[in-house]
Amino acid sequence: MVSRVIPVDPFDLVVFGGTGDLARRKILPGLFRRFCAGQMPAEAQIIAAARSEMDAEGYRKMVRDAINEFDGQRPDECPELENFLSRLNYVQVDAQGDGGWQELKEMLRKDTVKAFYFSVAPSLFGDIAERLKNKGLAKRDARIVVEKPFGRDLASAQALNKSLAAYFNEDQIYRIDHYLGKETVQNLMAVRFGNMLFEPLWNSQYIDHIQITVAETVGVGGRGGYYDKSGAMRDMVQNHLMQLLCLIAMEPPSRFEPGAVRDEKLKVIRALEPVEPHHIARGQYDAGAGEAGYREHAEDPRSRTESFIALKCHISNWRWAGTPIYLRTGKRLKARTSEIAVVFKETPHSIFDEDAGRHRNILTIRLQPNEGMELGVTIKEPGPGGMRLVDVPLDMSFSDALGPDADEVPDAYERLIMDVIRGNQTLFMRGDEVEAAWAWTDPIIQGWETRNEVPKLYDPMSSGPEDALMLMHRDGRKWREIKA
Ligand SMILES: NC(=O)c1ccc[n+]([C@@H]2O[C@H](COP(=O)([O-])OP(=O)(O)OC[C@H]3O[C@@H](n4cnc5c(N)ncnc54)[C@H](OP(=O)(O)O)[C@@H]3O)[C@@H](O)[C@H]2O)c1
Repeated sequence: MVSRVIPVDPFDLVVFGGTGDLARRKILPGLFRRFCAGQMPAEAQIIAAARSEMDAEGYRKMVRDAINEFDGQRPDECPELENFLSRLNYVQVDAQGDGGWQELKEMLRKDTVKAFYFSVAPSLFGDIAERLKNKGLAKRDARIVVEKPFGRDLASAQALNKSLAAYFNEDQIYRIDHYLGKETVQNLMAVRFGNMLFEPLWNSQYIDHIQITVAETVGVGGRGGYYDKSGAMRDMVQNHLMQLLCLIAMEPPSRFEPGAVRDEKLKVIRALEPVEPHHIARGQYDAGAGEAGYREHAEDPRSRTESFIALKCHISNWRWAGTPIYLRTGKRLKARTSEIAVVFKETPHSIFDEDAGRHRNILTIRLQPNEGMELGVTIKEPGPGGMRLVDVPLDMSFSDALGPDADEVPDAYERLIMDVIRGNQTLFMRGDEVEAAWAWTDPIIQGWETRNEVPKLYDPMSSGPEDALMLMHRDGRKWREIKA
């Protein structure tokens, strides 16, 4: 049932930071899977660029180990590992120096798509962009791919955009948010805009509220010092949750193409109202369940950075006036799960006795685990017990719907890299979107900094702090249970 794989054009993909964690865990194993699926052509070339001294053989060994470790594809499923490795090359380059660039230029071939993946710290983006352009490696049709975090506030995002725009046009810049590469996220658009069923109901007249939850069981562990400089708002809400919110709330674009989709997403972000302080709950996980607490992980006993945040948002436009959207994300929560729940209103009048209970439809879009969608519908409880109502799920998990082919669905990074090679920017963030998201985020963060707010402690493996529950209870609503 998985659609036919169409190979992309031959390409030269340069991965700056090709020896780093992201490249070894995600990018290279993902490319290997695309190679095995027949989507990455045999003529493709991947060049890793970093400062470490290494030759192509050394790099191939590093990638072989990485693929074995990070579940790229079991060798018995794809005997092509050596073939794939032979497509890899390595060049020693310092992003901030002059050495290595000429060698890199000589490795690039004529008449292939050129893509440069910046899998390095954002502080190096400008240096690499400048050298690519000034040393004649990137022509008008070259693409650059940049990773998160894209800034830590509006000013730094604007500075980053400016440093890239000095050398590349917007249609060459691919800002990755890997949530947009997930199968279900794209299915969300297919369900909304490919069916007559949902769109007429997709507004405040029929939808009571929407909940978006991204919960993790892990803490910040060894990344505590790094994480403490950002926190859940910057690390998750400003980008991933915001992108999900845009897709769920945007108007139908005129076409499924980059400009039209991104225009509609931008309108959603710009229509977001400022968030009232009492509509925000922040938390830090406490010690327990065999692990230290957040502050110990962050190595700062006075840290005020949140490892959990829940907030209530409003979009001020005709479609959504009066329908709140609740966002929630955190670490050390009771299950690892990401989902969007669209909670419809109750029927305006019930023809059934009070015994029948109160019911409402909920459309759940699961991003992990077990990607899929579920629509809760109300039916009569079977049996002779009179007219009692019960909610049952119409479940479409991809593994059930697609059978054994479900494993063939590419993961987010694989899909996004192939989109870069195809030159399709639909699933990437545009510069103005990122800036608009920071423009909404900045005052919220500044607010709690000004008020010296300290996040509340919450128990590890719980649903987060009590304040988050109250945020919903005050409105007569409740969060969906966090469960895998
Ligand atoms: N890891 C993840 O899961 C993840 C997830 C989302 C986003 N990201 C983002 O992805 C980027 C890379 O993250 P990472 O975790 O892979 O970092 P990392 O493990 O620290 O790797 C950094 C890479 O950059 C290279 N590098 C550092 N300085 C350089 C220079 N001056 N010139 C050339 N290469 C240089 C390093 O190699 P040498 O030391 O040999 O030069 C290494 O290959 C970051 O922007 C990060 O925020 C990472």
